[in-house]
Amino acid sequence: MQAAEKIMKTFVTRRIPQEGMEILSTAGVCEVSLWDSDEPIPRSELLKRVQGAHGLLCMLSDKIDVEVLDATGPNLKVISTLSAGFDHLALSEIKKRGIRVGYTPDVLTDATAELTVALLLATARRLPEGVEEVKKSVSPSCLSSLAVWGLSGSTVGIIGLGRIGMAIARRLMPFGVKKILYSGRTAKTQAAEVNGEFVPLDTLVPESDFIVVSCSLTPETQGLCDKAFFSKMKNTAVFVNSSRGAVVNQEDLYEALSSGQIAAAGLDVTTPEPLPTNHPLLTLKNCVVLPHIGSATYSTRGVMSALAARNLLGGLQGTDMPSELTI
Ligand code: NDP
Ligand code: DGY
Repeated sequence: MQAAEKIMKTFVTRRIPQEGMEILSTAGVCEVSLWDSDEPIPRSELLKRVQGAHGLLCMLSDKIDVEVLDATGPNLKVISTLSAGFDHLALSEIKKRGIRVGYTPDVLTDATAELTVALLLATARRLPEGVEEVKKSVSPSCLSSLAVWGLSGSTVGIIGLGRIGMAIARRLMPFGVKKILYSGRTAKTQAAEVNGEFVPLDTLVPESDFIVVSCSLTPETQGLCDKAFFSKMKNTAVFVNSSRGAVVNQEDLYEALSSGQIAAAGLDVTTPEPLPTNHPLLTLKNCVVLPHIGSATYSTRGVMSALAARNLLGGLQGTDMPSELTI
């Protein structure tokens, strides 16, 4: 009876790969309640289900703000997010309440960099258009009508040379990229590996043939890629974003793409997600939109799930978390 009283309540906001569920259910530390769906939990349900929880295991689609924290109540010790990004968490309020936070960086870096390079190539080489052409008729004129500028000999600008930005740069070098420029708050020693040059954004934007956004979403990066930004890009340049949709002003991007101000855009992330099926960006041939699948490999999602579960247990038990967010 006494042991049962010690069991803590955990709420998991969506189905997660079994690796994490197994860790939680065999630990004997918490009673797990799950929103048993692959879809994001509706806000009204989230506010109900969190009540009294000691631990929350959430997704990037769950906005954990004051309302959710208040609805959860004073038991809450730990929030473990199944993501590397943490812009959906009201961190200052969470920290003020003494709640610990776990997240899942590093383990998804390779998968996300791989997807970003795939998206860059698909967008730059117009693969979706080529596939559609084949379904209509194979015309020799496609050789010229689908011709583009390739990566070889190009300048690539990376906004945010963090874990994922660096992994993207490493993967792009073997394509014969001439120069890597990057911008951010601070120069990175690891940039030497790819001869990356730290430059102001005002230099990166007009000089790049490809711009890849891989920074975190913060008040400074929100809406960073706007009309002024796109107007400085080369008309032949390709824009790729695998960070967060809110870094981009999508109306300005639509204008830049439809007016020929820039050549093409590839987006793994948008606002909102998913985009409504009648969204203007989806009408453009030169815009390739994916449903936020950067980390979506079986092994990566499994490892993320296990890490998120271990973070949660560490927070519940007051011990080390394998990946605690300490900022
Ligand atoms: P890191 O913390 O390693 O990198 C974040 C980078 O953002 C840092 O290099 C940082 O530069 C840069 N940055 C911060 N502020 C600015 C700014 N004002 N201007 C330019 N750059 C800035 O994180 P990760 O590489 O692991 O992840 C990056 C982001 O990718 C996540 O926050 C998440 O949003 C997104 N992501 C998307 C995925 C997907 O499925 N598409 C999967 C995983 C992550 P500095 O150090 O100089 O401050
Ligand atoms: C993250 O981890 O931040 C991604 O966007 C989803 O895996």
